[in-house]
Amino acid sequence: MSAPAPAIFWPHSEHWSVKIPLKTPHYRMPVMKEKGYVIMKTLDLENIPSSEWENLTYMDWKSGGDTNFAPLASCDGTIECKGFWENGKTDKNAIFTPNAELAPNLMKYIKSIPANFGRVRIIRLEPQTHEQAIRSVHRDDNNRLNPEDEGWVVRMWIELTNNADSYMLLYDSDENNLPIKESEARVPMPKGAHFVVDSQRLWHVGVHNGTKSRYAAIISTESSPELNAWIEKRKED
Ligand SMILES: [Fe+2]
Repeated sequence: MSAPAPAIFWPHSEHWSVKIPLKTPHYRMPVMKEKGYVIMKTLDLENIPSSEWENLTYMDWKSGGDTNFAPLASCDGTIECKGFWENGKTDKNAIFTPNAELAPNLMKYIKSIPANFGRVRIIRLEPQTHEQAIRSVHRDDNNRLNPEDEGWVVRMWIELTNNADSYMLLYDSDENNLPIKESEARVPMPKGAHFVVDSQRLWHVGVHNGTKSRYAAIISTESSPELNAWIEKRKED
């Protein structure tokens, strides 16, 4: 007799992400409303040397798999990964870290985004299959301590290495804050892929098929009408 197939992981009501609020009065960008994410035009990163992500100081910080993070902006300008709320701050008004000086070209682009930045970090993710990754699917706690009359914090990604077979796995949330299987979307992650996700609304995890580390910039930004227009202009057709 063969062994029963292992149960496929799926979050249930006890998952820690379920407690993270979804419906709040914060300003949200109309461009995000329909799907909770927007894919923007692919960036040409050929002129940015890989030293801008490879030579940074990384912290061993596990989130969404076997990950390390190099903070470019943090709550107090130090190279640390902990939540801003631990310093009594919402995920905004970040201060650039010494790592940022080592990534001048990348920072030039990031600073051109018209937004109030929260944490800005480079993620280094080791390969993980779909089946492995789904165990880490989660929603982010981006808006803790965020005053309700201000903008909802969302996250942008810029893929720095070419991982054409990898993708960001996304699920919208139902009325119980649980992922809706039918809403599954896969955002491809070739070099230069640039997308914005309401990662507090959408369950997400990176599926990284490959043999080398995946590097990407993850940028927390506050929603605003100005940022909405900026994203709208860059939306993929
Ligand atoms: Fe996340």
